[in-house]
Amino acid sequence: MHRATAIAHPNIAFIKYWGHADAALHLPANPSVSMVLDCLQTRTTVGFGALRGDEVVIDGVPASPAARVRVSEHLDRVRALAGIDLRARVRSESNFAAGAGLASSASAFAALTLAATVALGLDLSLEQLSALARLGSGSACRSIPDGFVEWTVQPDRSSTAHSIAPPEHWTLCDCIALVSTRHKEVSSIGGHEAAPSSPLHTARVRDATLQLPACRRAIEQRNLVALGRIAERDAVMMHAVAMTSAPPIYYWTAETMRVVRAVVEWRQAGLPVYYTIDAGPNVHCLCETAYGDEVQRRLASLPGVEQVLVACPGSGARLTDDHVS
Ligand code: PMV
Repeated sequence: MHRATAIAHPNIAFIKYWGHADAALHLPANPSVSMVLDCLQTRTTVGFGALRGDEVVIDGVPASPAARVRVSEHLDRVRALAGIDLRARVRSESNFAAGAGLASSASAFAALTLAATVALGLDLSLEQLSALARLGSGSACRSIPDGFVEWTVQPDRSSTAHSIAPPEHWTLCDCIALVSTRHKEVSSIGGHEAAPSSPLHTARVRDATLQLPACRRAIEQRNLVALGRIAERDAVMMHAVAMTSAPPIYYWTAETMRVVRAVVEWRQAGLPVYYTIDAGPNVHCLCETAYGDEVQRRLASLPGVEQVLVACPGSGARLTDDHVS
């Protein structure tokens, strides 16, 4: 059996991907910028051999039919590239909850893409890996490169993510206030589809595109005030689009709002911290690592916060010999 194992981390977007320019190709309506989150990770082993069908086990449990189909469709892309028609055994483990707005599909499809291509003997460039991971889950393309990452679409409609700064560039940290790890009711796939039905969508896409150079500059200059303002505004706009889509999608809960208000109050009182929120109720709080302990302590004391995870800028997808059994 040809086997390989890869590790990948999820990422948190400062300017988000919400809505498609082309749904089938996962081409985003606007470019986005993110940071790889080091302490959350997915490790995936893919082995190809003489099997009757693809076998997919996630966190020790056979994958749901829908998840298995999604993985198989991605493996089909890799098989087509390699010109090899073998079925695969996929074993994947993550150290965090899937489907709770922590971008588990990003780390999952980044790790799957690297492991499957190497197991089939393909030697793809980072750009090729990123473009391929994108077809599994859009934001997965941003979990292939290291550190701070930008995802763009070129005029010829090629679309990949690339690193704009390595992890060690900035001692930023993301204190993630978990208010719920329940599986969200509407997946990001549903959110992307519904986005154009919101009258706010076009305005957000335009604003996100305009803000991108300032976001990149804020990262280059390690300017948290500039980055934080951009990230908060785009997060609120993304959720405003979701809440005004047809049908509306409410990812925020009362606990989400409580954390948002606390972050704003702490900042007004002098603590440099900003928030952003993905497609779920949990709140990502961005600060310099020097303030990480303080932010973590304050978040943990808020009612409704179940746990606080602290992530620093991480590396992109990579191979390991530590296979998932
Ligand atoms: O890659 P998807 O389809 O899971 O979409 C990701 C959507 C957000 O996490 C909300 C935003 C982003 O850019 O990561």
